[in-house]
Amino acid sequence: MPIAITGATGLLGTRLLEILADRHDSVILLSRPGGIPARERIVRYLRASGRPDDAIAAIAARLRTVVVELERPMLGLTQQRFRALADELDEIWHCAASIDLNSDPQRLHLTNTVGTRRIIELADAGVRTPMLHHVSTIGVAGRRPVGRIYEDDLDDSYGFTTRYEESKYLAEVAVREWSARTGRPAVVHRPSVLVTDQRPHPHLPTHPLLTGMQLARKLVNTLAMTGESRERLVVRIPGDPQALVNMLQVEEAARLMVEVSAHAPTSHVDTYHIVHPRDVRTELLADVFEELFEDILPISWRFVPSAPQQPTPWETLVYQTMSTFLPFMSYRRRFDDLGLRRLGLTGDFTAPVDRDYLMRTFGSEQYTLSA
Ligand SMILES: NC(=O)c1ccc[n+]([C@@H]2O[C@H](COP(=O)([O-])OP(=O)(O)OC[C@H]3O[C@@H](n4cnc5c(N)ncnc54)[C@H](OP(=O)(O)O)[C@@H]3O)[C@@H](O)[C@H]2O)c1
Repeated sequence: MPIAITGATGLLGTRLLEILADRHDSVILLSRPGGIPARERIVRYLRASGRPDDAIAAIAARLRTVVVELERPMLGLTQQRFRALADELDEIWHCAASIDLNSDPQRLHLTNTVGTRRIIELADAGVRTPMLHHVSTIGVAGRRPVGRIYEDDLDDSYGFTTRYEESKYLAEVAVREWSARTGRPAVVHRPSVLVTDQRPHPHLPTHPLLTGMQLARKLVNTLAMTGESRERLVVRIPGDPQALVNMLQVEEAARLMVEVSAHAPTSHVDTYHIVHPRDVRTELLADVFEELFEDILPISWRFVPSAPQQPTPWETLVYQTMSTFLPFMSYRRRFDDLGLRRLGLTGDFTAPVDRDYLMRTFGSEQYTLSA
């Protein structure tokens, strides 16, 4: 029987779909209206990532697109079509989301929170009681700055760094409430920051970190143009050089999520932190950025405990441009990955996200050419 997936055309969804389509005979792409049809976009993605033609044809033959409006009751379908769709499904992967941290809060709410409620309604309507796989984010931990965050943790007492996080938190709450109310199991996957060193291509989904990187590049270009000298510029960054950011290769995230799905749920809602076993320190990120921009403008990013009372004009510019990202420079928290470790899916063998990897990721022409 078919499975359905939302967000299959995105950075994570494309990788997930590739693996899921190998394991399931029929995959329904729940995609939004307009633009190039989702199935065609997937085929272009597969070509761009170098899959042989016969493998692409085999995957394409298993795909069917159903155009839906995520925020609308019954996904914008007629009652008859909605029921027919629901009754077909054994599994639903809900991966679609608006991930633009600076997006309009109403858009984030509609796509991420309301959209999840609509997908729950789909899971609820099906006679085959499909298993719901909900793609969340470690960001549901919000502004909690330190400590070990466990997979069972879910509360809003620390507030949120962005409205995106809040919208995803409310989506996860909706999944838990539904499961508690109906007794239906669900799996919640919480990936960390997803990265890839795959070469950019017009038919590959845009990397979500692109926005941040483009901002950084524009900023450095502006500083280089307005600066009086070519001497090394020192910019004080409110943050902690020992702060931790968890970054995981998107291909690995998709692999882990599908592996997890092969195991029977152990509770009503099984939550997994889909994270790298080793965090990246912010001092490494600062080093990588220094090296990347060295040719345009030599900058030293110097961490300071709090924003300086009298920032230089350059620092003011940096703080304004990068305001969404700065709070993440201070968090010293770790995301517990007991779920993955229990299944033997993560450990020392996980390929590193190290200096070389990050240079390949952020130094790619996608970032350097499009700024
Ligand atoms: N990227 C990360 O670092 C990261 C980290 C943790 C968790 N996540 C989670 O992983 C999931 C996938 O993220 P991603 O990085 O793959 O994002 P992405 O590349 O921006 O892809 C988002 C996907 O959602 C679809 N979508 C967006 N708005 C929609 C709407 N209103 N109706 C229907 N479909 C819509 C997009 O369709 P179009 O192609 O038509 O735009 C696309 O397929 C999300 O749930 C996100 O919260 C991502």
